Amino acid sequence: SASDIFGSKTSMSGYTYDDLICLPGHINFGVHDVALGSRFSKKIALRTPIVSSPMDTVTESNMAIAMALEGGIGVIHTNLPVETQAMEVARVKKFKAGFILEPRCVPPTMTLEELDNLKSSLGFTGFPVTENGQMGAKLLGLVTKRDTDFVQDRKTRLSQIMTPAADLVTKLEGCDLIEANETLQKSKKGKLPIVTKSGLLVALVARTDIKKNVDFPNATKHPVNKACESTDIKKNVDFPNATKHPVNKELLVAAAIGTRPADRDRVKALVAAGVDAVVIDSSQGDSVFQHEMVKWIKSNFPDLQVVAGNVVTKRQAQHLIECGADALRVGMGIGSICTTQEVCACGRAQASAVYNVAKLARHYGVPILADGGISSPGRIVKALSLGAGAAMCGSLLAGTAETPGEYFYSDDGKRLKRYRGMGSIDAMKKGSDDRYFGTAAAIKVAQGVSGTVQDKGSIHKYIPYLTQGIKHGMQDIGAQSVDQLQSMLQEGQLRFELRSAAAQREGGVHGLHSFERKLFD
Ligand code: XMP
Repeated sequence: SASDIFGSKTSMSGYTYDDLICLPGHINFGVHDVALGSRFSKKIALRTPIVSSPMDTVTESNMAIAMALEGGIGVIHTNLPVETQAMEVARVKKFKAGFILEPRCVPPTMTLEELDNLKSSLGFTGFPVTENGQMGAKLLGLVTKRDTDFVQDRKTRLSQIMTPAADLVTKLEGCDLIEANETLQKSKKGKLPIVTKSGLLVALVARTDIKKNVDFPNATKHPVNKACESTDIKKNVDFPNATKHPVNKELLVAAAIGTRPADRDRVKALVAAGVDAVVIDSSQGDSVFQHEMVKWIKSNFPDLQVVAGNVVTKRQAQHLIECGADALRVGMGIGSICTTQEVCACGRAQASAVYNVAKLARHYGVPILADGGISSPGRIVKALSLGAGAAMCGSLLAGTAETPGEYFYSDDGKRLKRYRGMGSIDAMKKGSDDRYFGTAAAIKVAQGVSGTVQDKGSIHKYIPYLTQGIKHGMQDIGAQSVDQLQSMLQEGQLRFELRSAAAQREGGVHGLHSFERKLFD
């Protein structure tokens, strides 16, 4: 059992995920019967035990929205000015599937020539015209291809050719996507502005977006002309696993902060934007700075969930739990882009860290996040088996469409995105030096590297692949839920074995001249 491996007083070794293998149990249920519900923090439950890392190449609002829709949660990184980070949080809280909440608007004084330039840089064709060209202002009209294509004089102002607001079909704010779609169907229009009673523009619904969303998951089942049936829309809107607030149904989101005194203002701004949890971003969490920050937040914002860390020992964890942490982030120097163990000689092999911290934290009802080193669904299964509430992932999710940054091509034609450690020199220059206590240091010492990862497609396909993989793993072990898995761990029924180097080689692909790896179909 795990306690034989990790609890042995004679063995002073630290073990990592690859050193261990879970022994199979008895299966008396189907893979679809496996539930992945778990906990991110004392008060935040997840249906998918996956969290996206607060890194500037991983999590901003697009990723946080996608993660929450898929039942996990995203932590917006803190390498941003306070107002920008708060705005990213607000974008997640305001998200409503199918509604474009920040459509690009144009002023009535704009010329067609200027609009042509905008169209070619943005790639879409219909624009709401508002009084000042901004979102939230009075809607004056709409310009679409139909209004603009046949006008010869490109110096004409939009006010002269737009379809004026009086002739537009609009809906009042508060309508849901099904109503919006019915209106689009009836009016045969492509765009539906959503306005307040006094005519201020609050959102836009586009028929093409709805079609895109709806067609995709059901492409073989639904003929195109039925793509907008309301049941399909419901499927699309009700992401069944979404991580939502129980009352107001907003998606949940977390954001990272540092431990500087100025970070108290950051916390206030994030709370004002509606953040549900803050994650104190530090490579070594057992510091007086962090203790004070946890206590300050818990006494000023008792309802805000505070994830403290990072820690790898029971002693570090105990201190943060005593300060009031609602969850702990576990991992030091084991991330794919980390050089902390090399540079600072400090850290711990991740399986030992997760098992030991989880054992203590469980006693206090504090969930832990296994942070870093997750490169496959199997490693998530191992993290959960060792007591983690969820796995926090950087490299695993890097390269998906929802991460910040643009794709580019390598010389050999691979589609890539950048992925860098928050302790890389580039990232630290943007502010993450506080994570490594480097703010006041004369020389910035890198504790991470900067690299590239290959395109992984959208989170909406990738997370379902990961969760299905995790379910298969839990089924093999004989656990139908994360709770059951962790009870088995406590009771010594979950059996692990250590793997020799040869066993690890045997457990991977071997003996082939070459092979192709397709992850899912
Ligand atoms: P993965 O393995 O998922 O790891 O890519 C992501 C986690 O690694 C931590 N992190 C760093 N650790 N130097 C470090 O020592 C760094 O530059 C760095 N950047 C991120 C962080 O905990 C993240 O969630």
